[in-house]
Amino acid sequence: MKMYRVKDYNAMSRKAANIIAAQIILKPDSVLGLATGGSPVGTYEYLVQWYKDGDLDFSQVKTVNLDEYKGLSKDNDQSYFYFMDQHLFSKVNIDIKNTHIPDGTIEDSDEACKRYNSIIEGFGGADLQLLGIGHNGHIGFNEPDEMFIKETHCAALTDSTIEANARLFENPDDVPRYAYTMGIQNIMQAKTIVLIASGKDKAKAIKDAFTGPVTPAVPASILQLHPNVIVIGDEDVFSLYE
Ligand code: PGA
Repeated sequence: MKMYRVKDYNAMSRKAANIIAAQIILKPDSVLGLATGGSPVGTYEYLVQWYKDGDLDFSQVKTVNLDEYKGLSKDNDQSYFYFMDQHLFSKVNIDIKNTHIPDGTIEDSDEACKRYNSIIEGFGGADLQLLGIGHNGHIGFNEPDEMFIKETHCAALTDSTIEANARLFENPDDVPRYAYTMGIQNIMQAKTIVLIASGKDKAKAIKDAFTGPVTPAVPASILQLHPNVIVIGDEDVFSLYE
């Protein structure tokens, strides 16, 4: 595992974007596993900038996102498809047909998850998976549990996650209660995993995930078993890490 302690959010974003850019340059048809949330916004800004500068070409890139809220359609401005379109897809030369996000409009959870799982399986996992981490140690919407769930599944969001995500909704009651998410095995299949985190509020999650036992009570702790994980965090997020 490689740990980069950097100064702040901007340095974290730049380092993550550098690694993703290198991946695309070295393998133009890479499968990128992508994440939503506050953590990757800066990373996507750098990638868009470097695309505009002529340094990056997304024409052959394929993407698989971690998760999507159940019940939200692509054009709902709270959906993760909408987020990805706003922050990356509409700003670079990616072919939208090569982008994949679970379909939140499929009512039948089993059907939605089966479909998405087969897309990931078809790729044999991502070449590089970008991850954030939740305050409770979740990755994607793999919430703390008694066991690791391997494949794409419908997750009931925990109160802590609903509270954290409420900041992005006009009314906290509007936060969806369920999401379709890649499972732990889907994530662990990625050849390289890049986890980014910043801020004191994530310090305990980082400490528990990378210095504690591997346990489904802290889903990110499974990453200790992956052969190629890069953690990029700012000084605040490493403040409890020895
Ligand atoms: P955040 O979310 O980047 O918005 O903090 C990360 C996560 O919950 O995985």
